[in-house]
Amino acid sequence: MRILVTGGAGFIGSHVADLLIENKHEVFVIDNLSSGRLENLNSNARFFKEDLCDYEKIEKMFGENRPEIVYHFAAQIDVRKSVENPVFDTKNNILSTINILELCRKYKVQHFIFSSTGGAIYGDADEIPTTENYKEKPISPYGCAKLSIEKYLHYYNFVYGLKYTALRYSNVYGPRQNPHGEAGVVAIFLNNMLNGKNPVIFGGKQTRDFVFVEDVAKANILALNDNKSDIYNVGTGVETDITKLFFKINNFFNNGFKEIHLEMKKGEQMKSCLSFDKIKENLAWMPSWNIDEGLKRTYEWFEKSR
Ligand SMILES: NC(=O)c1ccc[n+]([C@@H]2O[C@H](COP(=O)([O-])OP(=O)(O)OC[C@H]3O[C@@H](n4cnc5c(N)ncnc54)[C@H](O)[C@@H]3O)[C@@H](O)[C@H]2O)c1
Repeated sequence: MRILVTGGAGFIGSHVADLLIENKHEVFVIDNLSSGRLENLNSNARFFKEDLCDYEKIEKMFGENRPEIVYHFAAQIDVRKSVENPVFDTKNNILSTINILELCRKYKVQHFIFSSTGGAIYGDADEIPTTENYKEKPISPYGCAKLSIEKYLHYYNFVYGLKYTALRYSNVYGPRQNPHGEAGVVAIFLNNMLNGKNPVIFGGKQTRDFVFVEDVAKANILALNDNKSDIYNVGTGVETDITKLFFKINNFFNNGFKEIHLEMKKGEQMKSCLSFDKIKENLAWMPSWNIDEGLKRTYEWFEKSR
């Protein structure tokens, strides 16, 4: 099939593009390279360096290539940046998505697969692991944007029949994650340590549900079988606190780094952990990597690609 992957030069999008190409699909990538990198791009994908906010350019690409399926990864992914500049976040997360949804409607795309978020949508949930039925309470513009897009997906489905699947990821980690932003604690710790810098733990007692990127990529492929237009968590159901994560990574460096804490950033969530029961039942997905194996693979990749 002809498949468009927005954000396909980024961390998760590039892994999904690889799997789609392995499965013999024809893949087009749109990415403005704001955080993505050309070296992540699969050489068999056709690449368009465009910004999703530029409707005319994206429409030209749609008209010429007529994608049948759209995977939408492109986004401003930094929660702290969304708090500092909600207008920028809205433009890059909501308006850009409406542009692409309008084109999906106009060019009769069959299925829209959206990268949503579990953690930032549920907020500090008192149901752990959190299920999809939990009342969403986003506490950042980033979380509000993701939830709002899910509502738009319902609208496009109801009014125009555009099939959708929204995947609410927990904290994704693995090879190719960009360590230079504020997001992605595994990549940030690894990058610091490989450069001989002691990482700082902001808080430390907060827990997160770390899911390996290859598992997330598989969930995206299985989403092609979703006939219901639905929302699914993609997480492991296992909570790991940030201090414990630091020690696990420090192990790769013979415990050579010190445990240094600073105050937790304001507005940060204390807990995040997702139930994967629904996606297991409906799409036969389960995580296959545990955190120790996933961290080892990630460490090896960062070490090799320095
Ligand atoms: N990484 C996680 O833990 C996580 C968790 C939950 C949800 N998500 C979602 O998954 C998706 C992919 O995240 P990622 O971690 O791979 O991030 P990433 O930053 O590596 O990928 C995003 C890609 O989109 C591109 N991009 C950004 N704005 C664009 C625009 N306006 N036009 C065109 N391209 C644009 C970037 O250059 C980048 O290549 C995002 O939608 C993110 O919100 C990620």
